[in-house]
Amino acid sequence: MRVLEVASEAVPFAKTGGLADVAGALPAALSRLGCDVTLVLPAYREVFTRGLPIESTGVSFEVPIGTRRPVARILRSHLPGTNVPVLLVANDELYDRPELYGSPADYADNAERFIFFSRAALEIACRQGACFDVIHCHDWQTGLVAAYQKILYGSWPAVADARTVMTIHNMAYQGLFWHWDMLLTGLDWKYFNWQQMEFHQQLHLLKTGIVFADAISTVSPTYAGEIQRGPGGCGLEGVLTARGSAVTGIVNGIDTSDWNPATDSRIPKPYDATNVAAGKYAARVALAARLGHAAPDARPLAAFVSRLVEQKGVDLLLELIARLAGTGRVHFMVLGTGDAAYEEALRRAAASFPGTVDVVIGFDDGLAHLVQAAADMLLVPSRFEPCGLTQLYAQRYGTVPVVRATGGLIDTVVDATPQAIHDGLATGFTFGPCDPQAFMQAVERALAAHDDPTLWAGLVHSGMRQDWSWETSGRAYLRLFEKTLAMPPVSIA
Ligand code: ADP
Ligand code: GLC
Repeated sequence: MRVLEVASEAVPFAKTGGLADVAGALPAALSRLGCDVTLVLPAYREVFTRGLPIESTGVSFEVPIGTRRPVARILRSHLPGTNVPVLLVANDELYDRPELYGSPADYADNAERFIFFSRAALEIACRQGACFDVIHCHDWQTGLVAAYQKILYGSWPAVADARTVMTIHNMAYQGLFWHWDMLLTGLDWKYFNWQQMEFHQQLHLLKTGIVFADAISTVSPTYAGEIQRGPGGCGLEGVLTARGSAVTGIVNGIDTSDWNPATDSRIPKPYDATNVAAGKYAARVALAARLGHAAPDARPLAAFVSRLVEQKGVDLLLELIARLAGTGRVHFMVLGTGDAAYEEALRRAAASFPGTVDVVIGFDDGLAHLVQAAADMLLVPSRFEPCGLTQLYAQRYGTVPVVRATGGLIDTVVDATPQAIHDGLATGFTFGPCDPQAFMQAVERALAAHDDPTLWAGLVHSGMRQDWSWETSGRAYLRLFEKTLAMPPVSIA
C-alpha cells in the first residue's frame, strides 16, 4: 500500500507537541508493516537546526494562492533509521521563522502558510511516479488536502483513486480564519457553505478536512466519543456525528527506541524492570545537579512535563502546589512552556517554595527524558486529552501517572482500585471531577501508595510491562486504511 503522510510537524524535524511524536513514528511503523510511505512536512527554520541530512531535489513549482503564485522548493531527507523519504516544502517567506505557528500569538498569515502547504503536498504527490492509495492528513493545517484532492486534483492519476484519512489530534485547534481567506484556497465559493467549509461566516479548515476526508480518526476511542458531543466537539459535534460511522479512535503508540530507559543516552544509568530503583536514583542525582541542588532529597518526586495551556490543567497544578508544597511531603518538578501567565505563576510558586518546587520554563527534550526517569509520579490533570503521550512515557520509565479521567487518559491508565491492584492491572491513579480537591485526593492516594514499597513496586512494574509500541496502533491504522480503500470515496456534491 502506498501512503502519503502529510503533517505540519514531525520528530526529529520540528516539534511543538505530541503531534510531532506521532507523525514521526507512525510512518516508520507503517513502513515496517510493509507500506511504502512518504512523509511531507514544511521546511521550517527549526528543521535546519537538527543536524539532519537535507538535500535539494531540484524540484520547484509555483503554488497558486489567491492572486499570488509563491514558489515551493522541495527538499529531501528521510526519517532516521528508516527508508521513509521525507519531502520538505520550502518557502522562506512563509516558513523561515523562529516558531512553527507563532507564539504567543499565532502568525497572522497562518491561513496562507497552510493553504500553501496543503496544496504543495498534492502537487508533490502528483509529481511522483506511482499512484498513492491513501493520503493521511493530520489536524487543521492539512484540512484542505482532502478538498483539493477531490475538487482540483481528481483527474491526476497519482492521487485520483486515493482515499483520504483525516486524523484529529486536538479538536481545540481548528484553523478558523476570516471568510476572505477562502480566496486564497482557489476553491469555488460554492463550497463556502455551512455543510462544507464555512462555520459561522468563517473559513474552517478542520471542518473542511472532516467533511471532505473519506475516513476520520482521532487518537483514542474515548476521545472519539467525546468529540461527537459537546463540549468535546468544540462546536463541530454535529459535523462529526453526521459522519459518525466514519470516526474511529486509535490510541497513539510511542517510539520505543527513543523512549526506552534501557538504552536512553539522555539518562545517566539506563535501566529496566530489574534495576529500576538504581536507574531512577542515578537520574535523580543528575536532575538535582542540573537544578543546582547539592543532592536529591528523599521525598517522592511529582513531575509535570507539558505545554502550559488551559487544556493541561495548569490551574489545577498551581492549586495543588499551593496546598501541598507547604507540607514538605512531596517535591515538585515542572518542565513546560506556553502561556505567559502560567509561566509567571509557576515561577512565583518556585520562588515561594525553594527546594520543594523546581520549575524549568522552556522546551528541552533531553530534560523531559531525564525528568521521566527521575520522577516517582507524573501529574497529568488535563481538562481534556485526546490521547496524551507523557503518561505512556511515564509508564515505560517506571513513573506512576496521576491523571484526570478524560479522553485517552481513560484508555491508557488503570486506576489503582483495590480490585485492579489485586488483579495486577493497576498502572496509576485517576480522578474524575475537574477540580483541585479531586486532584488533591488522587495525589494523596498516590502518596499513600508510595509509602507502601510492595504496592508501589507493583504499580511501577505493571506500568513498565505495558506495550505501547507502535506495532498495535500501526496495525489499527493499516486496517482503517484497508477498510477505507474498500469503500467508495465520500461524495462532494
Ligand atoms: P500535547 O501534544 O497535547 O502537547 P502529548 O502528551 O501528546 O501532549 O505530547 C507532548 C509531547 O511534548 C511529549 O513528547 C512531551 O514529552 C513533550 N513536551 C511537552 N512539553 C515539553 C517541554 N517543555 N520540553 C520538552 N518536551 C516537552
Ligand atoms: C494532541 C493532543 C494529545 C495527543 C497528541 C498526539 O496534541 O493534545 O493528547 O497525544 O496530539 O496525538
